[in-house]
Amino acid sequence: MAAHLSNPFSSSSSSSSPFNSFKLLFTILFLCLITIGNSQHLVVSETGELVPTEETHGLPIFSGGNNIGVSSGFEAEAEEWGMVGKKGNQFVVNDQPFYVNGFNTYWLMIFAVDQSTRGKVSEVFKQASSVGLTVCRTWAFNDGGWRALQKSPSVYDEDVFKALDFVVSEAKKYKIRLILSLTNNWDAYGGKPQYAKWGKAAGLNLTSDDDFFSDPTLKSYYKAHVKTVLTRVNTFTNITYKDDPTIFAWELMNEPRCLADPSGDRLQAWIQEMAVHVKSIDAKHLVEIGVEGFYGPSTPNRVQFNPNTLAQQVGTDFVRNHQALGVDFASAHIYADAWLSQSISDAHLQFVKTWMQAHIDDAEKTLGMPVVFAEFGVSTKTDGFNSTFRDALYTTVYKTILDSIKKGGSGGGTLLWQLFPEGTDYMNDGYAIEIAKVPSTSNVIALQSTRLMLFNSMCSTRCHWSCKKRDAIETFLYHTDV
Ligand SMILES: *[C@@H]1O[C@H](CO)[C@@H](O)[C@H](O)[C@H]1NC(C)=O
Ligand SMILES: *[C@@H]1O[C@H](CO)[C@@H](O)[C@H](O)[C@H]1NC(C)=O
Ligand SMILES: *[C@@H]1O[C@H](CO)[C@@H](O)[C@H](O)[C@H]1NC(C)=O
Repeated sequence: MAAHLSNPFSSSSSSSSPFNSFKLLFTILFLCLITIGNSQHLVVSETGELVPTEETHGLPIFSGGNNIGVSSGFEAEAEEWGMVGKKGNQFVVNDQPFYVNGFNTYWLMIFAVDQSTRGKVSEVFKQASSVGLTVCRTWAFNDGGWRALQKSPSVYDEDVFKALDFVVSEAKKYKIRLILSLTNNWDAYGGKPQYAKWGKAAGLNLTSDDDFFSDPTLKSYYKAHVKTVLTRVNTFTNITYKDDPTIFAWELMNEPRCLADPSGDRLQAWIQEMAVHVKSIDAKHLVEIGVEGFYGPSTPNRVQFNPNTLAQQVGTDFVRNHQALGVDFASAHIYADAWLSQSISDAHLQFVKTWMQAHIDDAEKTLGMPVVFAEFGVSTKTDGFNSTFRDALYTTVYKTILDSIKKGGSGGGTLLWQLFPEGTDYMNDGYAIEIAKVPSTSNVIALQSTRLMLFNSMCSTRCHWSCKKRDAIETFLYHTDV
């Protein structure tokens, strides 16, 4: 099956493989589009909604008819590798919406260090693109320890940096953009605890790891790391990271929490300072924080949406955090199995819907920015797990974001946690999927990709398009059983 996956537009193979369904969907999409006439026209309004107009235009993408095959249309479209920007509550590239179906693979840089494992990076990109995934979130840090990028404050391992260069240059080959996270709240790959260790080794009198967010020396270490990464010149492409459109966004930190200050003031000050710091070096790229999205003290009427009462005491505050200057879009993670009960139930799916909708509503009405659900998934170690449930979970996440997209809302996209290539199971935390091993889930992913690609191509903010068969397209987009 992996061989089939390597060639998403080949015409020979069984129709049950995920990429083949993907191709089938493209074909349906193509057939829908070629029947389009001129009687009704849709454009994206200021608020991002699809609205009819009286103007007449041809199809911007699929005109001509010489190129039979939808892939050529998408390829032509993708030739301009523009920087991802933001227009109101939507992501845009080259003036077209950029709704995201993406994934996480955190260890890409680590695997790229060694020639014997470097191929896994290319493999996961290849498999991701076979199901239409366009964004990958990964770590641009490894603080201290094994294969450290930053061996000690401001001391870098050039071989590891070259590995990160490889990841960035390889991502572009597969037309995948990267969200690069700059450190970790947790001790995996160093993170906040490693910064605190460095501080103590330098003689600082620290009371907890959360001094990371307030101690001037630790803040200066982090700021220096940010500057080093953003101003890095890629040894494979010669493109400075801060100028590279392959990078979708910078993430300040994976899942920051600051239990030392439940009021949220300490973390808020850090977010504010660091978002502005990133922007002062790189004004082009989008910035997000990396929070899990728990509601905090600034919104007592929203804490009901948290998975439990502890969540409002971890020093994070979804709405307030994202009001910090320099933060371009919101993030939230979705872990019903880790947060609610470690045994599968329908309540998990209900939580996913409500949690997502609350964040989409806040991003839309209060923040005026897109929100990306930057991690979601279910562990195979959860009691009662089966692949049917995983498919139901993915479908729920995808449908909820689509409902927002359809209305021009703030739902910007989702990143599944997490996608692995073959032979890396020893890195698996229980949440990883391999495309070839989970055909039904891969079909769910590919269907979402196709729907988002249709949106990204049809909802041009620049080109108007006409659609006689609007109903057919609507059916295609929203009928969950296609
Ligand atoms: C370290 O800080 C704590 C709390 O701020 C203080 O009580 C203690 O005296 C300090 N110790 C040293 C050696 O400065
Ligand atoms: C990068 O720059 C160096 C030095 O100017 C040059 O030798 C090399 O060919 C360039 N590589 C790429 C990929 O452009
Ligand atoms: C899968 O798991 C769900 C939730 O635990 C359960 O309701 C369902 O019956 C299971 N399906 C199969 C085919 O085992």
